Amino acid sequence: MKTTAEIRQSFLDFFHTKGHQIVESSSLVPENDPTLLFTNAGMNQFKDVFLGMDKRPYSRATTAQRCVRAGGKHNDLENVGYTARHHTFFEMLGNFSFGDYFKKDAIHFGWEYLTSPRWLGLPKEKLWVTVYETDDEAYNIWNKEVGVPAERIVRIGDNKGAPYASDNFWQMGDTGPCGPCTEIFYDHGEHIWGGPPGSPEEDGDRYIEIWNIVFMQFNRQADGTMEPLPKPSVDTGMGLERISAVLQHVNSNYEIDIFQKLIAKVAELTGEKDLTNKSLRVVADHIRSCAYLIADGVIPSNEGRGYVLRRIIRRAVRHGNLLGAKEAFFYKLVPTLIEAMASAGIQVKEKQANVEKLLRLEEEQFARTLERGLTLLDEALNQVKDNELSGKVAFKLYDTYGFPFDLTADVCRERNITIDEAGFEREMEAQRLRAQSASQFGMDYNNVIRMDGVTVFEGYTESETLAKVTALFCEGKPVERVEAGQSAVIILDNTPFYAESGGQIGDAGRLDGQDFAFEVEDTQKYGRVFGHIGKVTIGSLAIGQLVNAVVDVERRHRTSLNHSATHLLHAALRQVLGTHVVQKGSLVSDVALRFDFAHPEAITKEQLIEIERVVNQQIRANHVIQTEIMDLEAAKAKGAMALFGEKYADQVRVLTMGDFSIELCGGIHAKRTGDIGLCKVIAETAIAAGVRRIEAITGENAITWLQEQQALLAQSAELLKSDVNSIVDKINQQQEKLKKTEKELLSLKEKVAVQAGSDLAKNAININGVSVIIQQLNGVDSKSLRVMVDDLKNQLGSAVIAFASVIEGKVNLIVGVSNDLTAKVKAGELVNVLAQEVGGKGGGRPDMAMAGGTQVEKVSQALLVGSEWLKANL
Ligand code: ALA
Repeated sequence: MKTTAEIRQSFLDFFHTKGHQIVESSSLVPENDPTLLFTNAGMNQFKDVFLGMDKRPYSRATTAQRCVRAGGKHNDLENVGYTARHHTFFEMLGNFSFGDYFKKDAIHFGWEYLTSPRWLGLPKEKLWVTVYETDDEAYNIWNKEVGVPAERIVRIGDNKGAPYASDNFWQMGDTGPCGPCTEIFYDHGEHIWGGPPGSPEEDGDRYIEIWNIVFMQFNRQADGTMEPLPKPSVDTGMGLERISAVLQHVNSNYEIDIFQKLIAKVAELTGEKDLTNKSLRVVADHIRSCAYLIADGVIPSNEGRGYVLRRIIRRAVRHGNLLGAKEAFFYKLVPTLIEAMASAGIQVKEKQANVEKLLRLEEEQFARTLERGLTLLDEALNQVKDNELSGKVAFKLYDTYGFPFDLTADVCRERNITIDEAGFEREMEAQRLRAQSASQFGMDYNNVIRMDGVTVFEGYTESETLAKVTALFCEGKPVERVEAGQSAVIILDNTPFYAESGGQIGDAGRLDGQDFAFEVEDTQKYGRVFGHIGKVTIGSLAIGQLVNAVVDVERRHRTSLNHSATHLLHAALRQVLGTHVVQKGSLVSDVALRFDFAHPEAITKEQLIEIERVVNQQIRANHVIQTEIMDLEAAKAKGAMALFGEKYADQVRVLTMGDFSIELCGGIHAKRTGDIGLCKVIAETAIAAGVRRIEAITGENAITWLQEQQALLAQSAELLKSDVNSIVDKINQQQEKLKKTEKELLSLKEKVAVQAGSDLAKNAININGVSVIIQQLNGVDSKSLRVMVDDLKNQLGSAVIAFASVIEGKVNLIVGVSNDLTAKVKAGELVNVLAQEVGGKGGGRPDMAMAGGTQVEKVSQALLVGSEWLKANL
């Protein structure tokens, strides 16, 4: 039997013998592509090569590409675990031709690999193929050259209700590269239900598509037109898990070696005995996507990619709980995963500690969230009307507390309460719309201004150049001319403007022409062209005209200082905290810099001071900031820090600051570190589990900030009538003084109370032969009341004393009874009688009791009731 790892390797080896370059799987986070949530096919990393916008040193390539299909287009999440072949994560084996071979070779290669005894050796009669209905060329290659009999070749046309909407026409998304395809199916045998492709029973599990060979010919536009690609190409995809199932003689992907290992581990961790339990599959599937997404830099969060990741983790944890997991278990699958994935496990292995940690933290956090959500649900259920929980509440639980709908439904079912499902769906739909409009994913690939051609960037040396307008866009649509008042994007053939990338914001400035002016607010890259985004302030401009492009150099200068300081900070963090610190994100603007990085705990005050000290020491060292262009390999050998998962060109720009920092970077920097002047950290926070953020400012900004701080200090000193240097002593002194004064005040109050008490003795009345004082006092706190009561008891010998004192909007009640009388009246009883009248309760010993109340306006009434009570009880 072939293991999945062996099949993966044999595929790459086969295509290598056919002159293909073996290319690494790209990250699950697509680079430079806002239209795609996650990498979902082998061709993603070559998309621009198909479109003719990117060139590679090879024209044939082969990959084993990790893919995630969850959230966004091709979303399989809800099906996962319940079907034999849906996964959030899978590997796609692919071979690619970039204008090199086309249909004939692609088909012959596929057939040879599948059937040759040297390779997979599958029985030919088990294989079926489909072709696009009108693709006679592919049909004839299969039939006449390969020898597949006509009865096993199925033509499939536009079977999805629109032109080119067909199982045999593949497109990446609504727009972008696409073309007709031919698919190869495997017949798992009569014992499994299902029919051949194109038959009414095709959805059964007998005939399974294993390989899709796409003849890339068009770039689909948003309006549906098919623009031919510069050169016909080939893109293929074979699901590794599916072909493994075939070779391992099982029908379900979940029965292949990788999944069997994972499922066994999930069962062990959760104590589940029934290995057919669907939840085992869900967890086994989800650990793959979650671990690889984290390894590729995604962090669970409430938006975008992080949100999808969070949902998958929560779904896994929820199924783990159903299986009986009692504590965090999900992260414990990582070692098994790494082992099961063999050579493809390396990406996770390199990040293992981080992956495990984030998974564990997320699971623990979800456990707390679940608890809070359950309390909320409990409250909501207690107030339910008509035995139906509103869709709004169910949605809030889902949205805010991450409560899966089925969990809410479970809890409701136990109480015989139904959920307004339609209401829930309405809220979900509204949320989807909000998410869609808020997110850029799902944007039209062509509407995200993309053009052939290149803008030559001259900004490393220039801040002003003459340039020609090559294209104009208004609201995302190409136009011939722009007029005063219009917002527009202007594409130039060359430019000194830096376009946002590597965390550094795009430049601002102006484009001046004859009788024309354009205010540039931002610069962005669209493919390989630079768009200058802003507003026409004077005149009008047409394609082909010349402009003088002038960068706002002040703004750029401030930005460059922040950028250089970011590199120093990065290196200082690694020096002070350790080399586990890796960059998770950064934002460099003209105002400040922000640097996010992996670090498991809060940074101590001392560490922060040390980090800042090191950065400033390097600033004063006044290193020349050097840039060099070199091979990626040479840069890595030199020790340049590169971002994991980032795709770099073969030639890279390396930025060096003395022997302190060396990084790959395309940004704009200061000439020497000394230019930064000063770097001041102004905040250190946590932004996600295991990820910290440092914000800092530099140059003039840092000086201004310090001056403001100093002014605040000076003002404080003035208010304290001190000077800045003795401010701490002064505050300590003042606090001592305040404490002393408070003490004196207290003893004074007690004295006054005693004094007042002796005066009050005169107010004693006689009830049934007993001296009684029952009256209202105001503004006396409870401590003083106690002193007064004790004092009066001493003075009067035998007495009942009751006071109600109104202080700070509340009522304090106290009752004292001399010991000889406690047999008749207990202080606790009387105080309760009084308290009930003013909305409170109280209690205490028979001779002394206190209580509080809130209804100040009822005090006199309470005292009357108290007197009556005494008359009855004494
Ligand atoms: N890109 C093609 C697919 O995903 C091969 O099926």
